[in-house]
Amino acid sequence: MYEIVMDTKEIFANKNFLVGITGGIAAYKSVELVRRLIKNGGRVRVVMTEAATNFVGPATFSAITGNKVIVNLFHPSSLGVEHIEAAYWADLAIIVPATANYIAKIANGIADDLLTTITLALDCQILICPAMETRMYEHPATQENIERLKKRAVTFCLPESGPLASGKMGAGRMMEPKNILEKAITALYPKDYKGKTIVVTAGPTREAIDPVRFISNRSSGKMGFAIAKEAKRRGAQTILLCGPVQLPPPRGVKLFKVESAQEMKTQLNHLCQERVDVLFMTAAVADFRPEQLSVDKLKKEEMTSIKLTRNQDIVANLKNRPQVVVGFAAQTGDPRHRAREKLKNKKLDMIVANDVTQKGAGFEVDTNIVTVICQEKEKLLPLMSKQEVAGQLLNMVLPRLK
Ligand code: PMT
Repeated sequence: MYEIVMDTKEIFANKNFLVGITGGIAAYKSVELVRRLIKNGGRVRVVMTEAATNFVGPATFSAITGNKVIVNLFHPSSLGVEHIEAAYWADLAIIVPATANYIAKIANGIADDLLTTITLALDCQILICPAMETRMYEHPATQENIERLKKRAVTFCLPESGPLASGKMGAGRMMEPKNILEKAITALYPKDYKGKTIVVTAGPTREAIDPVRFISNRSSGKMGFAIAKEAKRRGAQTILLCGPVQLPPPRGVKLFKVESAQEMKTQLNHLCQERVDVLFMTAAVADFRPEQLSVDKLKKEEMTSIKLTRNQDIVANLKNRPQVVVGFAAQTGDPRHRAREKLKNKKLDMIVANDVTQKGAGFEVDTNIVTVICQEKEKLLPLMSKQEVAGQLLNMVLPRLK
């Protein structure tokens, strides 16, 4: 019933990447991107404009890719059909960096060099990574050209703000290669969750004792963030509701931050007023909070006993239940029996049980070992990255969605 999750290598295996490089100083960063594409199993061919060769030599790319770099439409060694062949070969084209000139030309269907000619013949997704001076980027002509291309389903890796080659600060700095790689992964992922909304809770909650101290737990948020990243890659509108964590949110995911279990409950119920297809309740919600929050810092003598009161169970008391609700159970020892009880008591469709005492499982680490339990079956997922666990969980949930 369950498929095997795809990791980046599986997605990139047998995929052909056409990397187009235009003449900007950010061309040096394309070396890093090409290296990353190859490291992840992709096949890469590079096409450069004449101007780009002033910034990086074709020999660099030939050496990394093992393929001839093409620059000139009329090179004597070319049979004159290279542009057509390369355009048919590509599964994804990435233009990195893309100058204002290149963007203007393809927005207007101009094909006056090899790269623009190939672009016109492409039938695959195109990622364009602009890099230029702020004024050039913000010029209405450039902005109109970008908007025009977006309407033709071209994807932009929009530039970031930061120091530019001119020494000035501003928008126009090319997106970092690792983020472009993430966009490439997203572009190639199957969009089997398109049109679905997924909410993921992640991280711990903090229950304040006084202005200085709190009760919390060791959840880092890694498991929940991995699920949100996977959901976004697979096309879901993804909302991440997390307690205090130190992780950068996955790109394109809507983020809500809370501190306490009560805040998480309020925010989650608010989010569930709209249609939510799947809820992954990955957060390690504190079961108790101090009965009284002290306005002043407590003295040591006052700390010897703190009266606690129970937090309401959030997932068991949702006002509007999403179509599929997946809970998590952090246990010590064989987690299956307690997890089954939670599955029933919390009215879950599925529960993901982890024995947090196992090496490589549970809190803080990048891997996990889980048993996925639903009414009719159990499935052990042996040690694997949390990203892979996330992929498997999404595979298992998909058939349950109408
Ligand atoms: O964040 P990481 O460092 O990556 O670690 C991942 C993890 C170990 C936190 C994660 O894999 C995990 O197990 N999360 C659930 C931890 C937990 O709170 O388990 P529990 O057995 O106490 O709760 C069971 C379920 O009820 C959970 O889905 C929890 O979100 C939910 N719950 C708990 C208490 C409460 N008051 N309301 C709830 O909704």
